[in-house]
Amino acid sequence: HPVGVLISGRGSNMAALVEASRSLDCPYTIAIVASDKPDAPGLAWAAEHGIVTFAQSPKGMPKVEYEAIIDAALRDAGAKTIALAGYMRLLSDAFVARWRGRIINIHPSLLPKYKGLDTHGRAIAAGDESAGCSVHIVTEELDGGAVLGQAEVPIEPGDTPERLAERVLEKEHILYPKVLAEFVTQ
Ligand code: GRF
Repeated sequence: HPVGVLISGRGSNMAALVEASRSLDCPYTIAIVASDKPDAPGLAWAAEHGIVTFAQSPKGMPKVEYEAIIDAALRDAGAKTIALAGYMRLLSDAFVARWRGRIINIHPSLLPKYKGLDTHGRAIAAGDESAGCSVHIVTEELDGGAVLGQAEVPIEPGDTPERLAERVLEKEHILYPKVLAEFVTQ
């Protein structure tokens, strides 16, 4: 099952998906890694690891034109599912509708808590006992679609958002390949 991954930066979740895809019993392949940032470090990593890569900056063009280019790149690569992995741009309603139910995302909070940015800072400030990450279906509502899987991480006394983020990220790298594998086989 060919998957297209969209990234904007570091791409550590994308790398976890690529590495998992190379195990014998993995039900998905990474057909393409595409980025809105031509200089995203994750794009270089993917290319070095033999993955088809694509970059298109949205600068200086209408969003609909930018998304049509991304859409064409994904389709040309044969992608049947899209996995967002640190893709920092909101997809338009029209794009979401075209790929209805076939886009998933990983978000660093225990949804429905803390949609949007600064999830770990907000969890610490609220005095939560745990934080975590969620993989969910992408809908028109930001971080709002059905949750497919979660992993929980205890918040420690004196935790900083950075330290917590590191521990949650380790869980993300385990959760995302597992949930994606389940998602493409259901
Ligand atoms: C991760 O924390 C992910 O949950 C969030 O953005 C971050 C991306 O990190 N959506 P990376 O690019 O996968 O390393």
